[in-house]
Amino acid sequence: MSLFITFEGPDGSGKSTQARLLVESLHAQGLPALLTREPGGTEIGEQIRNVILSTRNRAMQDQAEVLLFSAARAQIVAALIRPALAAGKIVICDRFYDSTLAYQGYGLGLDLDALRAITRFATGGLVPDLTFYVDVPVEIGLARRQRGETNRLDQKEVAYHTRVRNGYLELARAEPQRFIVIDGTRAIDQVQQEIRARLLPELHARR
Ligand code: TMP
Repeated sequence: MSLFITFEGPDGSGKSTQARLLVESLHAQGLPALLTREPGGTEIGEQIRNVILSTRNRAMQDQAEVLLFSAARAQIVAALIRPALAAGKIVICDRFYDSTLAYQGYGLGLDLDALRAITRFATGGLVPDLTFYVDVPVEIGLARRQRGETNRLDQKEVAYHTRVRNGYLELARAEPQRFIVIDGTRAIDQVQQEIRARLLPELHARR
């Protein structure tokens, strides 16, 4: 049984914690699950991540940013995700191409059709089976983020993050079979319980 699950959400949504907890629970059930993240997940991808997020690279152009995210994505899909799925694993990826549509499409205002074409080239058409979108209002997400380290992308204005969140909600509405929207404002364990409960029927359906 292979299954490709992605986690999406605005900055500070808690999705990375949720993805980690879910993988731990799948491992505890003896299921072959693999956790990875974007941008990153491979040695080349992590190097690209550093270039994208470094506060030294304030001069980065929007198109360059898209292509760097997409380069990291091409690498992780071919080198890690597809082989793991072919080996029957459950792959859980912290962010995937919906992040590009939400952040660079809705956030920066780049053409969504162009982004979809670039994405298809990078992924070879790989689409997640299931996407957990962990939703939090922008103020909550940014307040959580301010307590942690900051990177180049954290320095964008509130209006940008609002467009990103609204973009995500639109993506989720457009593909209700793939997206599961989770209220991320609640306590960590409550959110995790809901995610596990929502995943269960999907796991059974594939057995
Ligand atoms: P992270 O905080 O989940 O590790 O993600 C790093 C940042 O990169 C986050 O602000 C979202 C952003 N991002 C994009 O803007 N476009 C993308 O395609 C991806 C994967 C991430």
